[in-house]
Amino acid sequence: MAHAGLVQPMGNPRREKVAVSLRTRVDEHDSTVVPSLLERHRRVLPHWVDQMHEEPISLVSGDGAMVTDADGREYLDFFGGITTIISGHNLAPMVEAVRDQIGRIAHSSTLYLIEPMVELAELLVSMTPDRHEKVFFVNSGSEAVDTALMLATNHRGSNQVISMRQGYHGRSFGAVAVTGQRGYSASSLSPLDVQFASYGGCFHCPFSLSYPSCDVACATDLRNVIEAQTAGPIAALIVEPIQGVNGFVTPPPEFLPTIRSICDEYDILLVSDEVQTGFGRTGQAMWGIEAAGVEADLMVMAKGLGNGLPIAAVVGPADVMDAMGAGSISTFGGNHLVTAGALANLRYLIDNDLMTNARVQGDTMASALTELAGRHPEIIGEVRGVGLMQAVEFADPDRTPRPDLAAAVQEACKAAGLLIGKGGVHWNVSRLAPALIVDDAQIREAMEILAAAVATVAGSTR
Ligand SMILES: Cc1ncc(COP(=O)(O)O)c(C=O)c1O
Repeated sequence: MAHAGLVQPMGNPRREKVAVSLRTRVDEHDSTVVPSLLERHRRVLPHWVDQMHEEPISLVSGDGAMVTDADGREYLDFFGGITTIISGHNLAPMVEAVRDQIGRIAHSSTLYLIEPMVELAELLVSMTPDRHEKVFFVNSGSEAVDTALMLATNHRGSNQVISMRQGYHGRSFGAVAVTGQRGYSASSLSPLDVQFASYGGCFHCPFSLSYPSCDVACATDLRNVIEAQTAGPIAALIVEPIQGVNGFVTPPPEFLPTIRSICDEYDILLVSDEVQTGFGRTGQAMWGIEAAGVEADLMVMAKGLGNGLPIAAVVGPADVMDAMGAGSISTFGGNHLVTAGALANLRYLIDNDLMTNARVQGDTMASALTELAGRHPEIIGEVRGVGLMQAVEFADPDRTPRPDLAAAVQEACKAAGLLIGKGGVHWNVSRLAPALIVDDAQIREAMEILAAAVATVAGSTR
């Protein structure tokens, strides 16, 4: 039944569709009316496929930490397609591996043996804690989150799951169900019984306390959530070691160890969503959870794994990974093409110790940002992050979020040749996450552009 507010004009939808496509074709032959890529995008893609900039751009090539748009403008890429490009654009060994693989065979499905898939699984097992022995490959972070939750709920025989407020885990039904942001919750329907616990974000402390005298009340409150809002066995708790989409919210050091020990108390599997924090981006360890001195029971990884190729994975102990009572195939998951590319990417990342570069460049970036915040206390509420995940939160001195300033800074950076991201539930946080191959000169140039953008925006608010 059509909702009153959503009544479509009467008519033959098929005929209207043909008319639109004919109009496009006529436009294409009329040199005076050429629809822009943005107009064509809007005609054929859903309205919720958001564009980030006031004037959206199309990136057509890249090299290392640089990208070029369709008009030939070059930018320093400090967002990497939502923190995905980890070893740099146009990575020569990866290009070669993918070219070589597609010239032989791209795909056969999980119904056949796939050598690069087995090799990549062996590599991931060697990069994760000893008791993590098996890997399953899928096509996106959302699908990997769903798979981890499917495995955990099967293993524990319970559909109860705990997630964190303001966390983001993807766009499929299971991933939306554990996402703690209304802005990304397209449906309240859920295959799981989910309860949300507090995350360790000090700038917006849910208890209005101060660290460290708070004794990480955000973490110990998990016990109250379990006692008050659950019944019987709980399958899993899923957590991002640093909340990515929420603007690189970085919890205090005691947060994750406390969550781990409460999970142990109640026999809950701890699932670490490493989609943004994995593969050395924090500069501290290969995995965000490892940097916190904690071992997860399952790890979900995507983004940096494929350096742009659509590949994601779940890694964990054999008893949990084997906990599927029915057959489960993945047609594309781990196919020849993506696993050959991901292998070349990870070998490059490890052989060139990109994690150390993430630490060194991340430290330089963090100092520059801290200095910047010191110059603009009236508009910058907090600078936070680790390694090459750094964020600047724009807020009034009373901590009222200022999404207008984050947007203005992002546009000013773009105009000066720097692409940065945005995040936070109020969209008031700048996110900076260049590829781990970024060099000192590029970091300094980006910091100069950002500082000038912030100064301009601060000046216009006075
Ligand atoms: C922490 C986290 N988990 C899961 C996802 C979902 O990944 P995908 O967009 O590949 O489905 C994202 C995406 O941004 C993410 O940041």
